[in-house]
Amino acid sequence: MQRRPLGRTGRTVSPIGLGTWQLGADWGDVSEADALAVLSASADAGVTLFDTADVYGDGRSEQIIGRFLTARRDHGITVATKMGRRLAQEPENYTPENFRAWTDRSRRNLGVDTLDLVQLHCPPSAVIDADATYDALDELVASGAIAAYGVSVETCAQALSAIARPGVTNVQIIVNPFRLKPLDEVLPAAADAAVSVFARVPLASGLLSGKYSASTQFAANDHRAYNRHGEAFDKGETFSGVDFETGLRAVEELSDAVPDGLSLPAATLAWVASRPGVTSVIPGARDVRQAEANAAAGTVDADLTGFEAAVVDVYDRLLRAEIHPQW
Ligand SMILES: NC(=O)c1ccc[n+]([C@@H]2O[C@H](COP(=O)([O-])OP(=O)(O)OC[C@H]3O[C@@H](n4cnc5c(N)ncnc54)[C@H](OP(=O)(O)O)[C@@H]3O)[C@@H](O)[C@H]2O)c1
Repeated sequence: MQRRPLGRTGRTVSPIGLGTWQLGADWGDVSEADALAVLSASADAGVTLFDTADVYGDGRSEQIIGRFLTARRDHGITVATKMGRRLAQEPENYTPENFRAWTDRSRRNLGVDTLDLVQLHCPPSAVIDADATYDALDELVASGAIAAYGVSVETCAQALSAIARPGVTNVQIIVNPFRLKPLDEVLPAAADAAVSVFARVPLASGLLSGKYSASTQFAANDHRAYNRHGEAFDKGETFSGVDFETGLRAVEELSDAVPDGLSLPAATLAWVASRPGVTSVIPGARDVRQAEANAAAGTVDADLTGFEAAVVDVYDRLLRAEIHPQW
């Protein structure tokens, strides 16, 4: 797999990374052995970016990654973690003292002195817009606790606000065939500012795998069962905010446009990774088979022109009116 620059850090990362929310909680159960196997399979396949958060399994995802890093000293992996959701997402909680406590905990969980990259985990807009936020993050860099920072955001407006800050290494935002708005302004602005974009939820929480039907059931402790309408956190994080039945119709149409020899998830990941301005796509994987298939999408060289035309057409007809104004 090729490598792309990570902002202005001097590091590079693979165009397909690995999301590790699944290795914490909220997606049904994944054993520690399976989680370590997913990390190993991804690294073996050339993935060099793991995305995690201090809240995934309340630290479990970070701790398992930490065990992996210790066991594979020559790993070459950049770990991007997140902070800010262990307390209510109220502006007064984003203090220098809390930043220090949260990053110290992540350093312990991951077993490192310096965190490679810490992203604010979808904070309120007031936090993204405040000078004090970046002053506190700059202090963490100066102290050596973190090497770089970024912001994970919900909306395009938040992404543009973060991209305008000179110290920001990356923004993380949902980009997939059901979320095309970032292509309009966010990706060009990020490219101009040499800010990396991590495209999260690239398979719309699995909808774009093409394997679900109207009768698919998710485990009770899986957010796709309990957050379908935004009951627990932002509705946009589950199935990209797309109504499940509408999503199934869209998937059926997109499946018809997948080039021969590719699966829908592979075409989707390759297409998102090839959008100018995207640094890395970070699909979540619950097992080795998914991790290997997703990493392989990083070397796809098929012509995706017909698939792209279908993506735009399906979005405009089925999704734009619901999705575009919200995120
Ligand atoms: N606020 C934030 O900053 C935030 C929010 C959400 C996610 N994220 C990050 O972004 C990452 C990716 O997003 P996501 O995990 O929510 O959604 P996603 O990557 O769109 O979907 C992951 C799901 O897709 C299915 N899948 C993955 N690869 C597959 C394959 N090759 N074949 C068939 N099915 C496949 C699996 O579903 P099954 O489980 O049904 O098998 C998997 O659980 C997360 O892991 C996390 O690191 C960050």
